[in-house]
Amino acid sequence: MTGATSGIGAEALKHFAKLPDTKVYVGVRGSGRIVPKGTEVLPLDLSSLKSVHSFADNIKQRLGNTKIDILVLNAGVQATDNKKRSEDGFELTFATNHLAHYLLARLFLPNLAKGGKIVITTSDSHDPAIIFFGPKTLATKELAYPNEDSPKGMRFYAATKLCNLLTARSLASINVEENRSVGVIAYNPGLTGDTSLMGKQSVFIKILLPVIILPLFYVISMFKPAFFMGTAKRSGEALAELALGKVTLPTDKIYASLVRGKLTFPNPSQLAQDNNTRDLLWKESAKMVGLPE
Ligand SMILES: NC(=O)c1ccc[n+]([C@@H]2O[C@H](COP(=O)([O-])OP(=O)(O)OC[C@H]3O[C@@H](n4cnc5c(N)ncnc54)[C@H](OP(=O)(O)O)[C@@H]3O)[C@@H](O)[C@H]2O)c1
Repeated sequence: MTGATSGIGAEALKHFAKLPDTKVYVGVRGSGRIVPKGTEVLPLDLSSLKSVHSFADNIKQRLGNTKIDILVLNAGVQATDNKKRSEDGFELTFATNHLAHYLLARLFLPNLAKGGKIVITTSDSHDPAIIFFGPKTLATKELAYPNEDSPKGMRFYAATKLCNLLTARSLASINVEENRSVGVIAYNPGLTGDTSLMGKQSVFIKILLPVIILPLFYVISMFKPAFFMGTAKRSGEALAELALGKVTLPTDKIYASLVRGKLTFPNPSQLAQDNNTRDLLWKESAKMVGLPE
């Protein structure tokens, strides 16, 4: 699992750690991280492809012939500008949210158990029909190497979340082609206020949050449910319900969206359903991480 140290992932991890006869491995950056008993922590910095490879090698060594039942790719950062770069020179949010998870999914695909599951956390901000700044086009190379005119802030973040959704669709289609019986779920936890993602906002937003933004969102959510502010507890619980198969998706659906605390199964955005966009992202990402198409 990635993204298990705070917010939605930390809440989901509580559910995984309680399972009997289950070994949970989490990839974390830095040291001294507190995780529930029985969870094994391994170093992983998603902003470095080298670190992603060594995390995958580490896990594979520990697993031997044992297969992975559930792979949860939940970590994420929110872009404030598009000027920061990863160790490999890619824009940091794109590298963390998309490229690292794309690589992890590909590296672990052969190790997944039949009937296993991959859950990738996306966001309804990928959909311009729901959130106005959602992407209407996708230019992968521009996300990797943005220029002055490229999307910034939440627009940029939303594009990386579209990448998560398209990657989930690619994995689902490989699964069908190769008859692997691995379930793939792209999960939108919806607006979740009490996570570090929000905490990493600018001081200006932090001051406005309790006095203006939250009350405003509450009013707007009466008409537009996507603006409902959920809790990390419920968003994490819903992630665990999906991963553990306590809630199952209707046949042929891969997108699960938490709306007002309830799991729903809408179609993703039009662009997310476009197979050319999906296949192009897969190919361009493969080149960027140095894997065959
Ligand atoms: N909160 C929302 O409103 C919302 C809405 C829709 C979708 N989401 C998605 O939900 C997921 C979880 O977000 P959250 O709200 O729970 O945020 P969060 O509390 O900030 O958690 C993010 C997690 O990602 C990890 N992470 C970030 N960069 C990393 C890196 N370079 N290497 C390894 N781990 C890294 C963080 O680890 P550290 O502890 O080291 O920082 C943390 O565990 C994300 O994919 C986010 O895009 C959130």
